[in-house]
Amino acid sequence: MGGAPGREELDAAEAMTLWSGRFSSPMAESLWDLSESFSFDHVLYAHDIRGTAAHVQGLKEAGLVSEEECALLLKTLETIAQEFRDGAFVRHEGDEDVHMAIERRATELAGPAGAKIHTARSRNDQVATTLRLFTRDAVVSVASEILELVDALNDVGARYPSAYLPGYTHLQRAQPVLLTHHLAAHVWPLLRDVDRLLDARERLNVSPLGAGALAGTSLAILPAYTAALLGFREAFANSMDAVSDRDFVAETLFDVALLGIHLSRMGEELVLWTSSEFHFATLGDDFTTGSSMLPQKKNNDVAELARGKSGRLVGNLTSLLVTLKGLPLSYNRDLQEDKEPLFDSIRQVVLVLRAMTGAYRSLVFDAQRAQDAADDVNLAAIDLAERLVEEGVPFRQAHERVGRLVGEADQQGIPFSQVVEQDPQLSRFRDLFAAGESLRGRTSPGASGPSAWVEQSKRLDDAIEAARQRLS
Ligand code: ARG
Repeated sequence: MGGAPGREELDAAEAMTLWSGRFSSPMAESLWDLSESFSFDHVLYAHDIRGTAAHVQGLKEAGLVSEEECALLLKTLETIAQEFRDGAFVRHEGDEDVHMAIERRATELAGPAGAKIHTARSRNDQVATTLRLFTRDAVVSVASEILELVDALNDVGARYPSAYLPGYTHLQRAQPVLLTHHLAAHVWPLLRDVDRLLDARERLNVSPLGAGALAGTSLAILPAYTAALLGFREAFANSMDAVSDRDFVAETLFDVALLGIHLSRMGEELVLWTSSEFHFATLGDDFTTGSSMLPQKKNNDVAELARGKSGRLVGNLTSLLVTLKGLPLSYNRDLQEDKEPLFDSIRQVVLVLRAMTGAYRSLVFDAQRAQDAADDVNLAAIDLAERLVEEGVPFRQAHERVGRLVGEADQQGIPFSQVVEQDPQLSRFRDLFAAGESLRGRTSPGASGPSAWVEQSKRLDDAIEAARQRLS
């Protein structure tokens, strides 16, 4: 298994596909190469076998296979799953995709009972079922990796509970913020990502099995029964929708792309923080890379890749949306193009999540340097304006007056605090320039100072706990 053997590398004795009855000549090699999907969809084997086992049990319940046939087929499917797990599954020529490979092998092992597996089923409802089962597991594993990253961010905050740094707008120093508050500004979006992935799980949790090729079947099958066996909330209502719907893939790709964008923003921040210019943080040696030429370099590739991978995740979403656009009902082979973007996005985002989790765990924050930057006296300009407001000065006038003082300081080449201290009407506000004073003044609900953090921290803990509950 694995790889993509061309037609000529496969066993010529097995030249027939499972659907070859109607055809007088085998598929052209170029078409085979274009259309085979086993080379990438073999990763679906466990989910396909699970779906097939439920289908077989459904056939038994409907009286379409006997008890003995059902038992034999279930045992056979377990054998095949073991072959895949051991890397011992041998792909034959004619195994166009993982679904046909499994059916072909089951027929080899179980004889005539195997030939009944595909009763009242098409690959169209089969692949939709398999992919929903796969995606249902995938969104859960991405969500749990996100919670690991959330833990790592919280741990950084816990290591530096009173550290603070400048908060930026337009990448210009704006107002001081607690490090915990700053990190939480990344955690909240990540928790929304978890929620979104779990919302997608709710919506995708509907079974397409029993829709057949597109229009159901004349046989008395039991879609609700197989849906329940597979842990789906319910069975499809419309057979055509069941086989042509890939909303769940699009939604998952969007959720992952947005998560990737959040990770890219965190990555960009780490690039800034670890630069010589900012120097707010360093990452452990095990999370940095060297330069092939410049011996002094310690590069932050983990953060750059977090930033870079996001392009690929957005590309995968775009690729699927364009594939779906304008497709007529119901199944079209175009839909096979849903898989590689999905597999790639899940794999890549998990790689990024794990590496970023490790990077934050290794992070050393230079609290003194960040604090010195945050105690920049200019950051107290708004605090002075707000003191004047408290004394009854309309805000716009206060802003104008303080702005003029900042401009004066700039012109004279002296600190803003000095101008204030020299002004007889304002020198009583000199306490505003004490270290940490501006930070302590950030007291409104949800603000960046220590007193407001107490409340936010409770809300954050509750939200993380709720995400964990929802995941379990
Ligand atoms: N490998 C195909 C896919 O991924 C399976 C469905 C093929 N159905 C068909 N009618 N040719 O979509």
